[in-house]
Amino acid sequence: MKIYVWDFPTRIFHWLLVVTFAAQYLTGELLDDAMQWHFYGGYVMLGLIIFRLLWGIVGAYYARFSQFIHGPTTTIAYAKSLNKSSYTTYLGHNPLGAYSIIFVMSMLLTQTVSGLFITDDIFYSGPYHSVVSDAVEDIMNMLHSNAVNAVLFFLVLHITAMILYKRLKGQALLKAMVTGRKELSESQVSKLENIVASKNHWLRFVFVASLSAGAVYLIVVSFAPELADDFYY
Ligand code: HEM
Ligand code: HEM
Repeated sequence: MKIYVWDFPTRIFHWLLVVTFAAQYLTGELLDDAMQWHFYGGYVMLGLIIFRLLWGIVGAYYARFSQFIHGPTTTIAYAKSLNKSSYTTYLGHNPLGAYSIIFVMSMLLTQTVSGLFITDDIFYSGPYHSVVSDAVEDIMNMLHSNAVNAVLFFLVLHITAMILYKRLKGQALLKAMVTGRKELSESQVSKLENIVASKNHWLRFVFVASLSAGAVYLIVVSFAPELADDFYY
């Protein structure tokens, strides 16, 4: 039986996040002379994070935080049951996956917000660089250099989890994040109490996406202080 779990907005969010993160890593760590693009990518990332936070409140059924964030008791019970055949199947994110998502989103937010306050000491400064003291800038620099490693650590776990769920549990999580549909066996269906299919709330999607873009504009352009001209050319 196939069930529509990941709505279009959640999937497009995920794959844009992957592309944007790759672009940020490339332009921040590997390429010289790409700082302007790094800034643009950072603003896209900010918009994606704001979008996902809002979509987690008003979005489709399985995208909502209230649907997939569970307390410690359920999460520990799930972790303990993983090596048993009677483990609980979750149609949306499982309780452990949910915490890894909170972790990576917090790290990406840290990375993006810290970027707004730092400078490459050559030509480019984040829009809020001029309002912070040297001490705060040092902290932001430290966060910006290190949070990215936490995201890379998450990525290793993330990909390993996909492979293990496929090999050991027969769950094609990757395919579901591409097509939106999860394929369930008869026995899995019989264990699930209520099966809800997701919906694409198009109007809400357009509204929330526009709101997120507007919020980025306000943060990056409208509320940003005048840039101090403190470079030596
Ligand atoms: C999630 C989004 C972001 C990621 C993954 C990211 C990643 C990175 C990485 C890996 C570096 C190299 C760090 C190092 O070598 O120590 C870097 C440098 C930098 N990033 Fe970002 N960044 C992001 C967002 C931003 C934003 C929004 C801004 C500013 C608006 C920004 C401004 C900078 C600057 C100015 C540098 C150069 C710092 C230096 O030369 O010491 N970043 N970023
Ligand atoms: C090519 C590499 C990647 C693959 C194959 C992949 C695959 C997936 C899959 C299958 C899920 C759904 C998991 C589930 O069923 O519970 C997922 C969720 C998620 N992944 Fe990835 N992922 C990749 C890279 C990334 C990267 C680079 C990031 C962040 C920088 C990321 C962040 C997330 C987040 C935040 C979610 C939750 C999505 C949501 O609820 O909106 N992933 N990923």
